[in-house]
Amino acid sequence: MVKIDKIELPDFPLLLAPMEDVSDPPFRMVCKENGADLMYTEFISSEGLIRDAIKSRRKLDIFDYERPIGIQIFGGDEESLALAAKIVDVTNPDLLDINFGCPVKKVAGKGAGAGVLKDLDLMVRLTDAVVKSTRLPVTVKTRLGWDDNSKNIEEVAERLQDVGIKALSIHGRTRAQMYKGEADWTLIAKVKNNPRIHIPIFGNGDIDSPQKALSYKNKYGVDGIMIGRAAIGYPWIFREIKHYVQTGELLAAPTVEERVNVCRQHLRKSIEWKGPIVGINEMRRHYANYLKGLPGIKDYRNRLVTLKNMEEVEGVLDEVAVNYKDFVMERQAIELVNYHENCPL
Ligand SMILES: Cc1cc2nc3c(=O)[nH]c(=O)nc-3n(C[C@H](O)[C@H](O)[C@H](O)COP(=O)(O)O)c2cc1C
Repeated sequence: MVKIDKIELPDFPLLLAPMEDVSDPPFRMVCKENGADLMYTEFISSEGLIRDAIKSRRKLDIFDYERPIGIQIFGGDEESLALAAKIVDVTNPDLLDINFGCPVKKVAGKGAGAGVLKDLDLMVRLTDAVVKSTRLPVTVKTRLGWDDNSKNIEEVAERLQDVGIKALSIHGRTRAQMYKGEADWTLIAKVKNNPRIHIPIFGNGDIDSPQKALSYKNKYGVDGIMIGRAAIGYPWIFREIKHYVQTGELLAAPTVEERVNVCRQHLRKSIEWKGPIVGINEMRRHYANYLKGLPGIKDYRNRLVTLKNMEEVEGVLDEVAVNYKDFVMERQAIELVNYHENCPL
């Protein structure tokens, strides 16, 4: 068992990464149902929360069936972060996570997210301010360092543990790397193996198959792994990894029926949570992933991304289920998108 303060997680837990514009309640629902052990919200601007911006406030929506769930905030100012932590407290998640990893200019360039990696004293002060303002366990998600010449994650881990964080998730890239190159887990392993470190250390970056998850578990010894891009349109990654770690056997790929059902569930929750117009619009980016690998699916997909009402969209999904009923899905390699060029942030 892995414990984050009083939160009990199974051995080698699988975490759903916080992802702006992705990790919303509809997406989290399908990940939870397919085995995510701990999930995070999209990141929330501390300034936005304080201003009571609608977008920030919406991101505080969490549901009991999602527990344990963490709300992630970001910011570069002690007072704002502390106040945001108090606002988060009221919504009663299981934990509060601070983002010190976001690399995009709009965030890191303003001294928040990964920008804080350049000033460790500030990072410690910000974290301390949050820890002191909330009764929730505080966790942090960050990167290896700002750039190749300043990979300070080992010091970051010790100092943040000293001010009271209860777990640390590390994306094995620097800020300068954005999403380029391969995630380097050797430094994550060093943090994990530091005898001074007693909080759980979660590895993150490029996990896209059960085999890789198990091999990284064995090689790097982390307490659990956090999965981001691989879960987009493929929430089955969680149950596949779980099964493989427990039995050494690969699960069969999800059937067409399962894909359509999960897609439908995602759509319904989107509409329920976002309303019919936004719910249907924002669902459009997911069809390609859910239906990937089906020959001749393009025409269905084109209809799915233009239709405007739920009955029609569900009608197309019904057609897919019927017309591909006997198609045997092969397990396909998951493609990890490089968000460097087209990051939605
Ligand atoms: C679309 C997108 C949005 C992201 N938004 C956030 C975010 O809000 N907070 C955060 O800490 N990381 C964010 N990340 C980074 C992921 O949590 C994760 O660290 C990164 O994608 C590497 O993991 P992966 O290789 O499993 O995708 C985002 C990543 C993507 C692809």
